[in-house]
Amino acid sequence: MESLKHLLEKNRQWAAERTAQQSDFFQRLANIQKPQYLWIGCADSRVPANEIVALDPGELFVHRNVANVVVHTDLNCLSVIQFAVDVLKVEHIMVVGHYGCGGVRSALLNSRHGLIDNWLRHIQDVNQKYRSIVQAAGNVEQQVDRLCELNVIEQALNVCETTIVQDAWARKQPLQVHGWVYGLKDGIIQDLKITMDSPEDMRGIYERAVQHLTIPKNPNG
Ligand code: CO
Repeated sequence: MESLKHLLEKNRQWAAERTAQQSDFFQRLANIQKPQYLWIGCADSRVPANEIVALDPGELFVHRNVANVVVHTDLNCLSVIQFAVDVLKVEHIMVVGHYGCGGVRSALLNSRHGLIDNWLRHIQDVNQKYRSIVQAAGNVEQQVDRLCELNVIEQALNVCETTIVQDAWARKQPLQVHGWVYGLKDGIIQDLKITMDSPEDMRGIYERAVQHLTIPKNPNG
């Protein structure tokens, strides 16, 4: 059995480099965790949260699962959101999908992989809800990408509908929920224009974000 010695060696190197750059780096981090952001993203190995937005350890609270799904009864995800909002008092939650997501593709194509098919059933619900918008996107890859966008929008709304976010807004705690999608091919994040910060207009913003997807994109920008 491989001992993963190479990874432990890389860890020692990394820690030494960090300390060389800033001698109190780890002492400072160990004493305080005060991130301003909660990232809810896909578990895909090509989407490393901190790296993409160039944030240091301590600056981003992270929850990842297959295809960045926020399920109303998922105690794991809800606990992360609750701790981030109530204790850490993050001011931003971003749901971050990515184009070409394998989980979204499996949901769209109805592929069978085992237990995970039940998890991906939530994305099939999104597909059924917006079937005409997905089908109008073009070929299969374009349909996958459109469903990746719609999935982010849907999950961002799910975040807003949690009692945690609703209660935070009711007590006027500043908190914005965002929907982003990351491009594996160019490393660029697109903002899906679904930033919600109050219960009053969240439905309208959600509906406009879905509508926005149906507007043909200008190829020049
Ligand atoms: Co993915």
